Amino acid sequence: MRLTILGSAAGGGFPQWNCNYRLSRAARAGTPQMRPRLQSSLAASAGEGRGFVLFNASPDIRQQINETPALQPAPDAPLRSTPIRAVVLTNADVDHLAGLLSLRERQDFHLYATARVLAVLADNPIFRVLDPAHVLRLPVRLDEPFAVEGPDGPTGLCAELFAVPGKVALFLETGEAGRDFEADPEDTVGVRITDAGGRSAFYVPGCARVDPALFERVDGSALLLFDGTVFTDDEMARAGVGSKTGRRMGHLPIADAGGSLEAWAGATIAQRVFVHINNTNPILDEGSAERRIVEDAGWTVAFDGMEIEL
Ligand code: MLT
Ligand code: MN
Repeated sequence: MRLTILGSAAGGGFPQWNCNYRLSRAARAGTPQMRPRLQSSLAASAGEGRGFVLFNASPDIRQQINETPALQPAPDAPLRSTPIRAVVLTNADVDHLAGLLSLRERQDFHLYATARVLAVLADNPIFRVLDPAHVLRLPVRLDEPFAVEGPDGPTGLCAELFAVPGKVALFLETGEAGRDFEADPEDTVGVRITDAGGRSAFYVPGCARVDPALFERVDGSALLLFDGTVFTDDEMARAGVGSKTGRRMGHLPIADAGGSLEAWAGATIAQRVFVHINNTNPILDEGSAERRIVEDAGWTVAFDGMEIEL
């Protein structure tokens, strides 16, 4: 299978439209070691001519398609066509579902998510722009692998959604004790993507904790694409751009005690890659000490257009 990182940034992208923090400023100024990044999404294909499955639909999807020829209509294809055959959502965050609004225009594709995430779409009438005659919404049960299909049959990829520690989307928070965090296992999931040859990749763009179940599931795998939102829990406050911690947003910090470097250190994973990187995260600076720390620990920092062949 071939994976393409369409967007390696977290919600807001890099630079974020209203952010004047040093990193966004540097990216806006064209600083070479500070590559701009679009919001979070991954494309997967079982091979040439098999089309694509998108994992999450970023608000930047139109630009991502424009920058990725393989995702555009083939020259000899019908007047309206796309190689995108299915979309799989891992949660209901704006950065993961707003791109669905750009996929209107009466185009057939299948949409997979947990019943909980599909209910968020059903409760928001704007998503009726996806005509049910064209976009089949398919509820997925946790821990049950399924063949990902497009309207015209199998894509050659299988997926399995599994719960990871997390929370509801920011815009669904109620503030009631116990309601927003880990209240429903279907709020935030990871995905295992498997091809016909049995090769597997794990995609976990949002995760609040690495618990033993998650560790055991991923240990021994060929590839992990993992939540790299913040380097340290309090980095947004220290940058002066907000008061929320990474953990408060449902994102495990990279480098703190108990963070992701530590949590995954004992696992055997051939390739480990940070995705969903927030615009305050110093690893965005290729010359930074923090970037060196994650690379020395065996991690790669995803960038837009990054391709991984498994
Ligand atoms: C997140 O990953 O925490 C969200 O994308 C934040 C947001 O929606 O701004
Ligand atoms: Mn996000």
